[in-house]
Order: sequence, then structure tokens, then C-alpha cells
Amino acid sequence: MKTIIKKIDKTQKDTDIIAEAGRILKEGGLVAFPTETVYGLGADALNEDAAKKIYAAKGRPSDNPLIVHIANMEALDKITTSIPAAAKVVADAYWPGPLTMIFDKSEAVPLGTTGGLDTVAVRMPSHEIAREVIEAGGGYIAAPSANTSGRPSPTTAQHVEEDMNGKIDMIVDGGMVDIGVESTILDMTVTPPMILRPGAITREMLEELIGEVSVDKTLINPDSKKAPKAPGMKYRHYAPKAELTIVEGAIQEVVEEINRLTKEKMEAGCKVGIIGTEETIGQYVAGDVKSIGTRENEATIASHLYGILREFDNDGVDYIYSEAFATAGIGSAIMNRLLKAAGHHVIHMESDT
Ligand code: TXA
Ligand code: MG
Repeated sequence: MKTIIKKIDKTQKDTDIIAEAGRILKEGGLVAFPTETVYGLGADALNEDAAKKIYAAKGRPSDNPLIVHIANMEALDKITTSIPAAAKVVADAYWPGPLTMIFDKSEAVPLGTTGGLDTVAVRMPSHEIAREVIEAGGGYIAAPSANTSGRPSPTTAQHVEEDMNGKIDMIVDGGMVDIGVESTILDMTVTPPMILRPGAITREMLEELIGEVSVDKTLINPDSKKAPKAPGMKYRHYAPKAELTIVEGAIQEVVEEINRLTKEKMEAGCKVGIIGTEETIGQYVAGDVKSIGTRENEATIASHLYGILREFDNDGVDYIYSEAFATAGIGSAIMNRLLKAAGHHVIHMESDT
């Protein structure tokens, strides 16, 4: 299959490209497009055969359900059986935006889209191009992140091309995404509502609106024997090819430890990558050092996380050492993804102060 790749300008909309994407989707094809979180791999969510193609292109296990993307609130009725009052409050505040809500599904949604579940995950993205592609494609677009299963999610069209070239019909290139980590997933079918995946919309932001919100315990306790409630969260995800270790503690000790580990691995003939920040990169003495962003603005760290993991894949490093980050705000999403990428391999530095 030849993949059509089309660049599109957010400000100067190209209606021909959107129309072409819409036609492919309506015919049951696959189109990757930008959203504010990560690039999505879209298919008609109400067409079981189209949704199945997503699993094949990604190499994704078929029990891992897809998120249905909509472009307006009216679209929600057709795919759900009931919408809790609290969901309307949340939608008012955070849709369109980086938030997915789970509802009981209606007959309109095939089980092939929901991985056999009676519930459906729904998101209304804020990205202009995403919204236009959804509308042009018929209003209900299933879209997982547009990466090969197990690789870091794509934050640029080039990342999508690396994984999907020749496997999908079209890539709409809208440049680098804004947020860089996937949407918050909030299960509205349980009381109190439960966060199944942390994202840019935080627990604090949701609790301020609707009161108590719980968090899937398996996200906090990696040793839990229970499976996470979002099927996709159980897979080894976001993983670079190299062995990634997070070093946590007082920053000066962290830098020293990473320098020590890097020296040790390099002396043994290995290639080492280091994930530092604007504040620390000058202090690393060896290895392939990259700045992920600045601690003064955690959003910069979120937006570079997946891109950096892919760069290290391309550089062919054997080991990656990363600093740890604060877990407030978007930080909980950053550390959730980083810990998964590291297979929860963390070194704690004991401070003697
Ligand atoms: O930001 C995002 O949400 C991106 C963009 C493209 O919109 N999409 C995304 O999709 O991250 P994906 O497929 O990579 O992740 C969807 C997650 C998986 O962990 C899946 O198991 C979970 O959502 N999920 C989907 N439907 C569900 C359901 N009915 N119940 C529980 N978890 C569900
Ligand atoms: Mg994904």
C-alpha cells in the first residue's frame, strides 16, 4: 500500500486534503491525523471491518479497546445509552480537550471497536484538524495513538511515518502536537468516577468540578496483581529499545549517580543516553545527553518525552538514564509514562541532609 502524506497548515486550512481524508475514512480506510495530545490512527468507528484494520496496522492485541472521537456534543447520544449528570459537567468544562470519558455503549458501536466490552471510550479533541477530519469522516472516528504497538506514541508526522508507512492509506501532517502525552481517561460508569490513565486534565481539576474522583490503584502500585481497568495500560508500552532507568532524589546526587553509571557502562563498551533538563545538561560529562525541557515549565517535558525516547532508539543506545520529575499537575502523566517505559526500574538516592 502506498501511504499518501499531506502537509496541512493549521491556520490556512486546505479543504481538499480534509475532503480526501474524509473520503478514505468513509470507504473504510485508515488515516493518521494530529490531535492536541498525540497523533491518532483513525478509522470509521461504526464500521467493524474498518476498526479491525487498525489492529492489524498497529500489531495491537484485539482485546484492547479503541477510543471513539467525536466533534460535537450531539454525537454522544447515538453511541451511549445514558450520560450521567456529572459527565455533562465535565464535558462542559473540558470538551473539546485532552480528556476521554467511558460510558455504557449503545448498539451502534460494534464490539470490534470496544474490544468486546459493553462500554465505550469517547473523546472530543480540540485540535482543529482533528475535528475537521472527524466530521469529514462521518462523525465517529476510532483512533488509538498512531504508533506500532509497544513503541512510544507519535508526536510528529515523521514518527507516524516511521511506524506506519506502507501500512495505512494517508497521513495528515499537521506538525508537532501540543501536549505530547495521551488524554486523561475517566470512567463515568462507576461511582465515584475513576481515572484509568493520567493526562493533562488532572484529578484535582476534575474533583473541583464533580467532587470525589478515584484513581485506578494499579497505576499507583505497579506490584499489584490486579489488571489495570483500561486494558491498554497492562501492556509494556511507550518502551524504547534501550534499557531505561530512572534516578530519583536530590538533583545534585542524581546527576552524580548518572555520571557514575554512564562512565561504568561506557567503559564496558556500551552506548549511553541521558535524559536531563535545561537546568542540568551542562553537568553531564559523557554519553548522549539530551534536554527534555525545563523544570520551570513541566509542559515542555511532557511534549518532548516520546520524541526523546524515539531519538534514542534511532541513535542505537544500549542504556538510558533519566532524571525523575515532580508528580504534580501534568507531572503525574509524565511519571506514569516514564515509569512504564522504564519497566518501573528506579534507583532512589538517599540524601543525608
Ligand atoms: O490522547 C488520546 O487519547 C489518543 C489520541 C489519538 O486521541 N488516543 C489514545 O488511544 O491514546 P490508545 O488506543 O492509544 O489508548 C486508549 C486507551 C487504552 O489503554 C485502552 O485500553 C483504553 O483507552 N480504553 C479504551 N476503551 C476503553 C473502555 N471501554 N474501557 C476501559 N478502557 C478503555
Ligand atoms: Mg496508545
